[in-house]
Amino acid sequence: MKPLSPFYLDLTEEEINAIQEEMGRILRSGQLILGENTEKFEEEFARYCSTKHAVAMNTATSVLEVLAVLNGAKGKKVAVPSNTNFATVEALIRAGGIPVFMDMNPETFQSDLEILERTHQRHGIEGVMWVHIGGIISPDFEQVADYCRENGLFLVEDAAHAHGSRMNGRSAGNFADGGAFSFFPTKVMTTMEGGMLVTNDDEHAMLARSIRNQGKRGAAYGGLHSDHGNSWRMSEISAFIGLVQLAKLDEMVGRRQRAADIVCAKLDELGVPYCRTDHMDQASHYKLIVRLTDGRTYADVKKEMAEQGVNCGGGVYEVPCHRQPVFADIPHDPEELANTEEWCPRHVCPPITSGTTEEDARRIASAFEKVLG
Ligand SMILES: Cc1ncc(COP(=O)(O)O)c(C=O)c1O
Repeated sequence: MKPLSPFYLDLTEEEINAIQEEMGRILRSGQLILGENTEKFEEEFARYCSTKHAVAMNTATSVLEVLAVLNGAKGKKVAVPSNTNFATVEALIRAGGIPVFMDMNPETFQSDLEILERTHQRHGIEGVMWVHIGGIISPDFEQVADYCRENGLFLVEDAAHAHGSRMNGRSAGNFADGGAFSFFPTKVMTTMEGGMLVTNDDEHAMLARSIRNQGKRGAAYGGLHSDHGNSWRMSEISAFIGLVQLAKLDEMVGRRQRAADIVCAKLDELGVPYCRTDHMDQASHYKLIVRLTDGRTYADVKKEMAEQGVNCGGGVYEVPCHRQPVFADIPHDPEELANTEEWCPRHVCPPITSGTTEEDARRIASAFEKVLG
């Protein structure tokens, strides 16, 4: 039997044909960037998240850097979880911010209000880059947003994993001072490469459009550069793929949910802990995070699952940022990051995608029964 893979490109033959046709139209039109597809994708993404604006860019890493710049991170201490992708920390550094690593709560694999308050009191941070890890929105995230507002801290949401994630009627990316979504190929939806900035701030949206296009305000192709910027546009072809994917985002997330339900029922039966999403209206289920409580590591269990025909993909994250060679000079106290140290090497994520059938999910469940039971 074919091993289960953590990667699935969710495009039907019909959709691929439509993309090919549109690609021909785009190439013949000569409008390869900043055209009608980009505009439509932005409008529809903003509508989906109920934000005032969405700005399409080349990657989420660029979006995060723009959000850090727009929120004035330069020269300021900014809290960022150590348990995140390289991009969150790197974008902050590139924007001139000074990262202060935050610990995580093992129930959600992300920070919580208590951790944030502690980090604020100890380090005098002036902003926060939060990560909805695996697509989970922390149950206390509204209180986190209130705390930031009351204490004058900006709060940027890294929603790279959280397309379709909603809690208390609000979409990830729409709780505070801007959100960043990634459309990298392994994500919940893809544009091949791409990112989306969402915001309710008119000025931030105007500046983000300028920064992604070499600092040109207003006219896309003019010769006047008003802001420091970069060439971080999305191609028209990517934007069209984004439209195709967005149209079926809820359906794709629903399929992930059904697969996750089958796997979680088995984990409950086995008494194996995992990060729950019951408190949310809808979770992206980008990653189902299973905690390993018997001393085995991510590498051990990944190998044993592969022997059962289940290839687990990357974790979130096996090596946290404070342990990455590139960030070795960022000062941190390992005791302040005790949960991150303990749990990053001791979790595993099964290969749940929108292509996971109920039968696949049962295969994952029975592999867990053999490996963790
Ligand atoms: C949490 C997180 N933030 C940001 C990024 C960066 O996304 P992109 O590859 O679109 O730059 C990733 C990508 O893997 C991610 O996992």
